[in-house]
Amino acid sequence: MKNIILTADRPTGQLHIGHYVGSLLNRLKMQNEGNYEKMYVMIADSQALTDNYGNVQKVRDNILEVALDYLAVGIDPSKVTIFIQSMVPELTEFMFYYMNLVTLSRLERNPTVKTEIAQKNFGESVPAGFLCYPISQAADITAFNANLIPVGDDQRPLVEQTREIVRSFNNLYGQTLVEPKEVLPDNEACLRLPGLDGKAKMSKSLGNCIFLADEPEVIKQKVMSMYTDPDHIKITDPGKIKGNAVFSYLDALCTDQHFEKYLPEYKNLQELKDHYTRGGLGDVKIKRFLNEILQEILAPIREKRKELAKDPKKIFNMLFAGSKEAREVAGENLTKLKQAMGIDYQNMQ
Ligand code: TRP
Repeated sequence: MKNIILTADRPTGQLHIGHYVGSLLNRLKMQNEGNYEKMYVMIADSQALTDNYGNVQKVRDNILEVALDYLAVGIDPSKVTIFIQSMVPELTEFMFYYMNLVTLSRLERNPTVKTEIAQKNFGESVPAGFLCYPISQAADITAFNANLIPVGDDQRPLVEQTREIVRSFNNLYGQTLVEPKEVLPDNEACLRLPGLDGKAKMSKSLGNCIFLADEPEVIKQKVMSMYTDPDHIKITDPGKIKGNAVFSYLDALCTDQHFEKYLPEYKNLQELKDHYTRGGLGDVKIKRFLNEILQEILAPIREKRKELAKDPKKIFNMLFAGSKEAREVAGENLTKLKQAMGIDYQNMQ
């Protein structure tokens, strides 16, 4: 079977370096390897509304921002269909039938949803739409028969929940849907990049991100303010690597070539870590090194993004064309779904 790849992001803000190492790099790799029949990247505006229903403008404005980030990092619309979720209304019909296959308690147990409910302080009043977004995500994936889902680690429980829905559907109505598999980064450090403040996750809502579009000065200032080891006060003090955000970023991003170029007195990251652990290596030095690496990675992305941002109309036309194409595919698969369920009445006469 040839692969069908699908992934998505909620348009609630610009994409950041956590998205880059956690998912965008894998998407680019897959796009360029070409081992697929179709590849889709969706801007999940409907899903974003499940917790931003009171702020539609934020979601609307960020559709363009996310699309610019995609194109700037190298997602190529001649290879990948990029589309807007709400422009494929068939997805909601998929979701409606899947809602019968999932219990409320299963939704409440979804670890990602659980964490988000706590973060968003919904308490007892979780909107049904929010609680059900994993079902909508199963619709996004299955409407295109996608089998490979390049996502960040936090999305694993959602793909798992999709597999359960697929199995329930196939058991009830016969083999119809494909079980998807998440594709996570090989590099452990890319799985969950901590925030600048050392908190578990880089996240727009926590305000601890480096955005792909950040200007050089902003990047530098953010890196210089990063959380390291609070007990590493004097340069001569031995320092800790574990929980030190600067080293987590270096683990995710740096190569031996970066050492050659910016810090030739060390051969590789292990040597740098050893020195830091022994004592005698200051935070400023490791931060400067990380800054050089980030500047190198982000400069071409930022420049391309600025160019692209000059013609938003062109971007939207690309998104509309992608959405039209996605709608056709989802429509065909919806017909198959209804056939399997025995509710395609007109064709049953
Ligand atoms: N939940 C994803 C996120 O928050 C977005 C998403 C929506 C998605 N539908 C999807 C991801 C389908 C993968 C596949 O980033």
